[in-house]
Amino acid sequence: MEGDRPVEKLSEAEAQAELDRLAGLLDKANRAYYQADAPVMADAEFDALKRRNAAIEARFPALKRADSPTEQVGAPPAEGFGKIRHTVRMLSLANAFDADDLREFDARIRRYLGLKDDAPLAFTAEPKIDGLSLSLRYEAGRLIHAATRGDGETGEDVTANAATIDDIPQRLSGAPDLLEVRGEVYMRHADFQALNARAAETGKRTFANPRNAAAGSLRQLDPEITRARPLSFFAYSWGALSEALGETQMDALERLRRLGFSINPLTRLCDGLDEMLAQYREIEARRADLGYDIDGVVYKVNDLSLQGRLGFRSTTPRWAIAHKFAAETAWTVIEGIDIQVGRTGALSPVARLRPINVGGVLVSNATLHNEDYIQGRDSKGAPIREGRDIRIGDRVQVYRAGDVIPKVADVDLSARPTDARLFAFPESCPECGSPAVREPGDSVRRCTGGLICPAQAMERLKHFVSRNAFDIEGLGAKQVEAFYHDDQLPIRTPADIFTLEARDRQNVTKLRNRSGWGETSAHNLFRAIDERRRIPLHRMIFALGIRHVGETAAQLLARHFGTWHAFETCLTGPSEAAISELTAINGVGPVMAQSLIDTFANAAERRAIDDLATHLEIQDAEAPQVKDSEIAGLTLVFTGTLTRMTRAEAKARAEALGAKVAGSVSAKTDLLIAGEGAGSKATKAEALGVRVIDEDAWLDLIGA
Ligand code: IVH
Repeated sequence: MEGDRPVEKLSEAEAQAELDRLAGLLDKANRAYYQADAPVMADAEFDALKRRNAAIEARFPALKRADSPTEQVGAPPAEGFGKIRHTVRMLSLANAFDADDLREFDARIRRYLGLKDDAPLAFTAEPKIDGLSLSLRYEAGRLIHAATRGDGETGEDVTANAATIDDIPQRLSGAPDLLEVRGEVYMRHADFQALNARAAETGKRTFANPRNAAAGSLRQLDPEITRARPLSFFAYSWGALSEALGETQMDALERLRRLGFSINPLTRLCDGLDEMLAQYREIEARRADLGYDIDGVVYKVNDLSLQGRLGFRSTTPRWAIAHKFAAETAWTVIEGIDIQVGRTGALSPVARLRPINVGGVLVSNATLHNEDYIQGRDSKGAPIREGRDIRIGDRVQVYRAGDVIPKVADVDLSARPTDARLFAFPESCPECGSPAVREPGDSVRRCTGGLICPAQAMERLKHFVSRNAFDIEGLGAKQVEAFYHDDQLPIRTPADIFTLEARDRQNVTKLRNRSGWGETSAHNLFRAIDERRRIPLHRMIFALGIRHVGETAAQLLARHFGTWHAFETCLTGPSEAAISELTAINGVGPVMAQSLIDTFANAAERRAIDDLATHLEIQDAEAPQVKDSEIAGLTLVFTGTLTRMTRAEAKARAEALGAKVAGSVSAKTDLLIAGEGAGSKATKAEALGVRVIDEDAWLDLIGA
């Protein structure tokens, strides 16, 4: 910094004083940033102070303070929170964008439940609050804990903070013994503006929008800071309960209101699509005057027994949907197009934009999806934007919907400058030079370099250490990038992470002496890595970053195979057998199966996986929780007509209880459920000695 004496000129006494001064400044800045969500200095200034501190420490190692700021690298606030496992998972909502999507939602529910088109089916409609969801657990009427959604299974314990919110009662009278209330924490516009005005006056960082302000304020280590930030809460749902809150969604909300929770006053009961759309328009018309942000309307089946029958898909309920408002848009100029190479080698074109404010957020990059999109057609060759292509220099319309990455939606041809440039989509990878090919039927061109491509290797590593994969504390995306380029202590494959400490021991320049690291942080990193040498099977599978294998698929695979050995044996055995075993798993299709097999058949991939596995103890998958149901593990076949539930519902019920549902009877069938008019399947089952039951026995069996 200007005016600071050069490090090499400092005497020992001056160095000591300077280290003390820097420790004070950096500590203050750290607290302001992580705990108060309101930085007191620019990032560049903070980095310069840290570099100076590290340089002095490097010159005078003996003077290094026990609480040296070099040890405080990137401690995100979330690490200070305890974790709470949700007894009932906190799910998300599927989206609808227009009346057709909504019609399909209604039709899907009717099909699933076997309801006629004209049978009454009521929905509640209420605003979708743009905040963050919170689960409040009350036992014997007392608030026991409050947890954020987190990954849906485990959230952060923010009890002390939630208790400072006026809308959240700490005691309830007349409540069920166990009651988990769920809803949205949000910040009103007036409170947001006042908070930002105070921040601006005192030179602190302001928040981009009320949602960020609400999230930053709730996720505070010091509840006094939360108290000083006015937050609000609407209840709209529940988790575990010792007794039902009512028979309908409306009754349940009314009960919550009487218990002292705020229920959104625009919640209405709608009889059918027309009323739902009318309520959508009403809420949209009032959006600007509500005094808080909403981003759509949520519809829920009103009858709770129907909600129960409809149940859940892997991450969303079948009985609810979010009808989103149209995205915020703005016009700006494309100054260039960059290519990013992703984890699976996909070359994604990214528009570099003249920065523009879109609905309160400054946008300077937006995705252009793929080469067809730039040329104005979809992957089947049909025109999009009426065939208008996009060139560098064009005036384009950018849009943002919620938190998603901004996109380029349209182009204004009348404003096209004469020197607008066509973009030549590369046919080789800009990162490693390998051919980039487009497989038939794929809309994306992919780098064929696999692990030799540094971009793919690095993105894979980032995925590997990410939250739902290995989740190694102190080794986030930023550190992965630094280690990837490090010549002395590189991490270029997942296995390298687990040899890091051993290699560090042999190195002359120890990690603890590097800029950004110290004794404690290096020690903590090695311990955090050690903690992950034992890893659950599903995390291991997800962490490999295999194309088409997301978290849900990894769970299914882990549950099916049980052990790493069984998984690996299948994938490295004859591929026809592997395909048939994999595709027999409910939720695994031929594309995912092929992708798994290809990965294990590729020598470099295989070596990287084998290397990694030698450092790990991969824990067997937990037996599914539904094991104790009578049909868990059985293979069922339905035939004939069921009168009390549709096939879709019967199948979903069976699968939720841990059974497999097959289409035809074979020696592997354990049970045939024969509805009315059952024919040849029942005969075949009897011939094979398969147990056959009727619909009533089926309903008894599943406790319906
Ligand atoms: S119901 C089982 N109702 O939207 C699903 N969610 O995009 C329960 N949200 O995670 C959610 N307003 O955080 C519901 N009126 C509302 C909502 C709402 C906002 C949030 C919630 C959810 C997210 C899904």
